[in-house]
Amino acid sequence: EKGGYDYFMLKEIAEQPKAVADTLLGRIDAAGSLTLDEVRISTAELREVDKVVIVACGTAFHAGLIAKYAIEHWTRIPCEVELASEFRYRDPILDPRTLVIAISQSGETMDTLMALRHAREQGSKVLAICNTNGSTIPRESDAVLYTHAGPEVAVASTKAFLTQLVACYLVALYLGQVRGTKWGDEIRAVIRDLSKISQEVERVLKTMEPVRELARSLATKNTVLFLGRHVGYPVALEGALKLKELAYMHAEGFAAGELKHGPIALIEKDLPVVVVVPSPRGRSVLHDKIVSNIQEIRARGARTIVIAEEGDEAVAPYADHLIRIPATPTLLQPLVATVPLQVFACELATARGNEVDQPRNLAKSVTVE
Ligand code: BG6
Repeated sequence: EKGGYDYFMLKEIAEQPKAVADTLLGRIDAAGSLTLDEVRISTAELREVDKVVIVACGTAFHAGLIAKYAIEHWTRIPCEVELASEFRYRDPILDPRTLVIAISQSGETMDTLMALRHAREQGSKVLAICNTNGSTIPRESDAVLYTHAGPEVAVASTKAFLTQLVACYLVALYLGQVRGTKWGDEIRAVIRDLSKISQEVERVLKTMEPVRELARSLATKNTVLFLGRHVGYPVALEGALKLKELAYMHAEGFAAGELKHGPIALIEKDLPVVVVVPSPRGRSVLHDKIVSNIQEIRARGARTIVIAEEGDEAVAPYADHLIRIPATPTLLQPLVATVPLQVFACELATARGNEVDQPRNLAKSVTVE
């Protein structure tokens, strides 16, 4: 049931703090270490892994793109992310030391299932990150880490995405913990931050009224662009996907550094451009570069919608609309930065008279290749 909300999507957006907390529950012990007992791949085998390959579709693919940054940073294991539908058709290089991670909310997506079957045939171990108990993908995998988002009814994924991110961070941190990398102190600090992150998601949800108002004011636009860097780049892709799925608008996500290599030609007067700004504390070089990007597009007349950390004053002069998110460690920022984009797409779709929970031409789980 919709629990008093007009749409399942609104309910599921609101459930995100709990979904995130539930996915962490029982996985961090009193000493602040991770205990992923259900990952039935031995620690000896995990120490041998020399490559991680992530396969997924749609929103789950975007979670995988973010996971790459976390896995490579905390474990120093090379990680590739690939659309499941492309994976097996290009003869990928897989062996028993490759850990394949298949991410799927439903656990029934045929493209992802076929990719994992292919990986297992090559002798690779497959870890599923899945939200649906007993579904096909976890049944056919060597191990599963369940996300505990609860049933997701709206076709466009929201709380499942946030919990997929949490599960990806847990896997990355666990691999780092098991293998003992030089980032030990950082890993312990991030585990602490992760355990508090659901409160930050809650805080973002309480400040969404201006985002809704902004979305309504853009209902007659044809195009919205999204820019980001580092983990903000997949967030931009996810923001654009949500807008396509729900508002049936032309929306594209770009890596902000790529702007000058083509997309800047698209900038024209009054074009809404959403920019996800990295923390000024973490990768501060990237922050400065993205501030220049915002200046460039604004100079060409774009309407800048800037998602930036609380306390980041450098962006304020160039933001036509400023959406504040709490300060988090760099790699965790997608957990808070995605939420305004979900609300934005949902409200824009409603303003355009679209069916939010059941967008045209889409299905919640796609069981054909
Ligand atoms: C698509 C859905 O068809 O499948 C997306 O419309 C979803 O919302 C994608 O992200 C992948 O689904 P799943 O269940 O494998 O995560």
